[in-house]
Amino acid sequence: MEIKVITENKKQFLSLLLLADEQEDMIDKYITDGTMYVLEDNGVKGECVVIDAGNRVLEIKNIAIRPDCQGKGYGKALIDFIVRKYKGEYSVLQVGTGESPLTIPFYEKCGFVRSHSIKNFFTDNYDQPIYESGIQLVDMIYLKRNL
Ligand SMILES: CC(C)(COP(=O)(O)OP(=O)(O)OC[C@H]1O[C@@H](n2cnc3c(N)ncnc32)[C@H](O)[C@@H]1OP(=O)(O)O)[C@@H](O)C(=O)NCCC(=O)NCCS
Repeated sequence: MEIKVITENKKQFLSLLLLADEQEDMIDKYITDGTMYVLEDNGVKGECVVIDAGNRVLEIKNIAIRPDCQGKGYGKALIDFIVRKYKGEYSVLQVGTGESPLTIPFYEKCGFVRSHSIKNFFTDNYDQPIYESGIQLVDMIYLKRNL
């Protein structure tokens, strides 16, 4: 397994990016400034994008594993990589997600705890309602872990 930084043509991985953030113009808001990593293990299995959120906080803006490769530890491997790489440089790693049974338990398994939320983030910022496991995403839930 190898994790590589991608500096050019990050949108070649658009199909993966859209798994985590389904509206392309929302991805455009962070893809240029964000640092992108791709996990390869006999081909690309997943990606993540992080940005400097200020105040020694690093934020995961996008993380996705190919649907046929989920549940095999690749997502956790990307988080562990980010933790190792940015420990010392940042104090906190944070991520925002919907109130979804597909994502929150994953982050909790990776050592994140719930921090705060932004009311109506998904309904205010996305053109279409977003559903995960039949639940409409409304508020953005932030989770954090120390680095
Ligand atoms: C969320 C996502 C990145 C997780 O990556 P993954 O490779 O499937 O997760 P892992 O296999 O590394 O799982 C790590 C741990 O979390 C647990 N976990 C993962 N998803 C879970 C879920 N939905 N419910 C409960 N536990 C879950 C795993 O069981 C594993 O636990 P273990 O360490 O005890 O075995 C991946 O499923 C994905 O790409 N989803 C679609 C895109 C997306 O929603 N991205 C997040 C946007 S906020």
